[in-house]
Amino acid sequence: MNSKKIAKMSQSSLSQKGQTASESPARVDMEIYFEALDNPYHPTDNPKGALPMNVAENHLCWEMLRDRIQQVTREHEIPDWVASYGDPAGIPRFREATASFLENHLFGTHVNPDSLAFSVGATSVIEMTSFLLADPSDTAVIPAPSYPVYTGDIGVIPGVIRYDLQTHEELEELKNGIPINTQKLEQAKKDIEAKGSRFKILILTSPDNPTGGIYSEKQLRETADWCIANQIHLIVNEIYGLSLIDISHPEIKEDYPNPIEFVSFGKIMSEYQNPYLHFWYSFSKDFGVSGFRIGLLHSFNEELIQAYRNAGLSHSISNYTQWVMSEVLEDKAFLEQFFSTYRERLTESYLIVRKSLKRMNIPFNPSFGSLFVWMDWSKFLSEESAEGEEKLWMEIYQQTGVLLTPTNGFGHKKKGLYRMVITSLNQSKLQVAMDKLEDFTKKK
Ligand SMILES: Cc1ncc(COP(=O)(O)O)c(C=O)c1O
Repeated sequence: MNSKKIAKMSQSSLSQKGQTASESPARVDMEIYFEALDNPYHPTDNPKGALPMNVAENHLCWEMLRDRIQQVTREHEIPDWVASYGDPAGIPRFREATASFLENHLFGTHVNPDSLAFSVGATSVIEMTSFLLADPSDTAVIPAPSYPVYTGDIGVIPGVIRYDLQTHEELEELKNGIPINTQKLEQAKKDIEAKGSRFKILILTSPDNPTGGIYSEKQLRETADWCIANQIHLIVNEIYGLSLIDISHPEIKEDYPNPIEFVSFGKIMSEYQNPYLHFWYSFSKDFGVSGFRIGLLHSFNEELIQAYRNAGLSHSISNYTQWVMSEVLEDKAFLEQFFSTYRERLTESYLIVRKSLKRMNIPFNPSFGSLFVWMDWSKFLSEESAEGEEKLWMEIYQQTGVLLTPTNGFGHKKKGLYRMVITSLNQSKLQVAMDKLEDFTKKK
């Protein structure tokens, strides 16, 4: 639809929230992203075309999944129940198939299908959980830098305030993991209460967006203990939980002198079984199907799951999607193959990026997982300000076609850091993008 064709009234007829929403794009780089998608790079037809690496898309294994899905739709008749209403929190078959997937691939421990509730992508899971756990004007603490869209997901409808907890300033400080501890949480709590709000939710993303860091089991346990003692809801978003880089690979091993083992919060939750601990997941990233819109909450808080079911009618996933994905999830051999191929390809893409960044002398945080590399381009800033940062980001795009994620909204104080999505392009295009960036830095 062409938005220019819609009549604009001189005075808004919308609610206050509606007016604010009409003026607040979900992401600052949305328009330029669509422009880049319309002008894609091609080695012969469009060598100066765009190489979008700003949106967290994972295209590394789509053909494998597509073939499996096409087999499902070719070989199976659509069951009748698909055409009717179902449980708004997810149909039982899909909940069971997903519980078994989480058990085998992430938690390593039994998952009760009744502890899961689904809705349309992590975006809606974040929104739903926030408004069910917190009241408007309550605060959710998120270690910075973090996913910019959390602000809108927790803010627009739930009315929850985002607090960017500054855990560090320089990339170097991440070398032993994301430096969060209970002293920093205590300090945030005092700060929030002094402003007249309540610290109601703590959100950790592991593997992290954008740093690629992970939280150690010890950190997760200590943080869980502190949250429970303070009656604060701790949610761990493991949307990148199976996007793990092989840090034992000989080419990169040296980057991890103190390797951290990824332990899913789901495993820890199964021991605690506490109503203040929750887990988010989505199929958008590890499976690379952001367009399917499948997200889930896992919690031992029965009241929360019931509230989710009762309030979630407008957020339910289509039964067709649930049916197709149940068939895929029930094929255990396929999942094994899919994730082992994915992990290999993810590591290969990471190696391409890491090698180029080393050559360019651009500092970056060695990623444990996620679809990202978080890099420090500050030495190229003409001025250390939001404007300087935007100017450099745009200059990189205009001169190379490489669209990085602008840092605006990540909540980090230091200027000149950008996120690169390493899974949105195939590996030959990824190499082209890195070569173009290298040329850019040589000319700077
Ligand atoms: C940390 C985090 N949470 C949630 C989302 C949104 O996921 P979904 O596409 O499932 O709504 C993203 C997408 O980039 C993300 O990085």
